[in-house]
Amino acid sequence: MATTIVPHPMRTAVEVSELRKGFGEGRMRIDVLRGVELKARGGEILLLVGPSGCGKTTLLTLIAGLLEPDSGTVKLWGEPLELLSSEEKTAFRKENVGFVFQQFNLIPTLTIRENAAIPLLIRGMAEKQAFARAAEMLDRVGLGNRLTERPGKLSGGQQQRVAIARALVGDPKLLICDEPTASLDGETGAQVMEILRANALHPDRCTIVVTHDHRIFKFGDRIAQMRDGTIESLEDAPQTESVRGIVPGVRG
Ligand SMILES: Nc1ncnc2c1ncn2[C@@H]1O[C@H](COP(=O)(O)OP(=O)(O)O)[C@@H](O)[C@H]1O
Ligand SMILES: [Mg+2]
Repeated sequence: MATTIVPHPMRTAVEVSELRKGFGEGRMRIDVLRGVELKARGGEILLLVGPSGCGKTTLLTLIAGLLEPDSGTVKLWGEPLELLSSEEKTAFRKENVGFVFQQFNLIPTLTIRENAAIPLLIRGMAEKQAFARAAEMLDRVGLGNRLTERPGKLSGGQQQRVAIARALVGDPKLLICDEPTASLDGETGAQVMEILRANALHPDRCTIVVTHDHRIFKFGDRIAQMRDGTIESLEDAPQTESVRGIVPGVRG
C-alpha cells in the first residue's frame, strides 16, 4: 500500500536519526554525514550553520528525499522517507516542499510571473489560475508591479524574492533554503528573512535555512551547529545581532 505523508501540526515536522552518507569508494571515500541527529518543529525556522564542506547541503538533499542515505532515517511528520517509492517522494515534494537556493535558479527566458508559477504548472494547475496565484505571491513579496519582466532586469534581492515567491506559491509545508541571503547585501537579506519569518509561523509549516550569515541569525528560532558531519549543538537563536564569532567558521 502506498504510504503518504500528511503534514500535521501535532507531529514533529522533521526528525533525522543516525543519518550517514558518504561519497566515493576506497581511498577516495569521504564520509560526509556521520550520524546526524536533528529535529525541526512545526512553526519554526531552524537555522543550520557550519563551515563550508561540513555537509549542510548534503543533509538538506537527504531531508528532501533527493538522495538516499547510506543508513539512518529521515522522518517527515512521523513518516519514514525510506518507506516511500521514488514516485511517492517526487509526489510529496511537488505538493509539500519548496526550495530556495543561493543562486536563485530562475529561468532567464521566462517572465517572473511564469517563473513563480512553475510549481503549480508542474502540479497540473491550469495556466490562468497558476499565473493568478503567482501574481498574488509576487505581490506579497513586493514585486506585483514587475510581473512581465524577466529576471535579468531585476536586482539580486528582487530575484531572490521571485525565487521565494516560486518556493511559497504552492503553500509548501516544508521550506528548505540553502544560503538564501549569501548573494545579498545586509538590508536585502533581512527583507528576505522577514518574508520567510512571516510564512514560517503556521504550526504545520517547517522552515530550514542553511546559512553562513550571522546577520540573519535573529530571524531564526533555533540554531543547529554542524561540524564534521554531525550536529554539534542545537540552541535557541540569539535575539540580537551581536553574535558574530560564536559560530566557528562563520565569515565575519
Ligand atoms: N555528489 C557528491 N559526490 C562527491 N562528493 C560530494 C558530493 N556532494 C557533496 N560532496 C562532498 O561532501 C562534502 C560536503 O558537501 P556539502 O554538503 O555541499 O557541504 P556544505 O553545504 O556544508 O558546504 C564536501 O567535501 C563535498 O565535496
Ligand atoms: Mg552547501
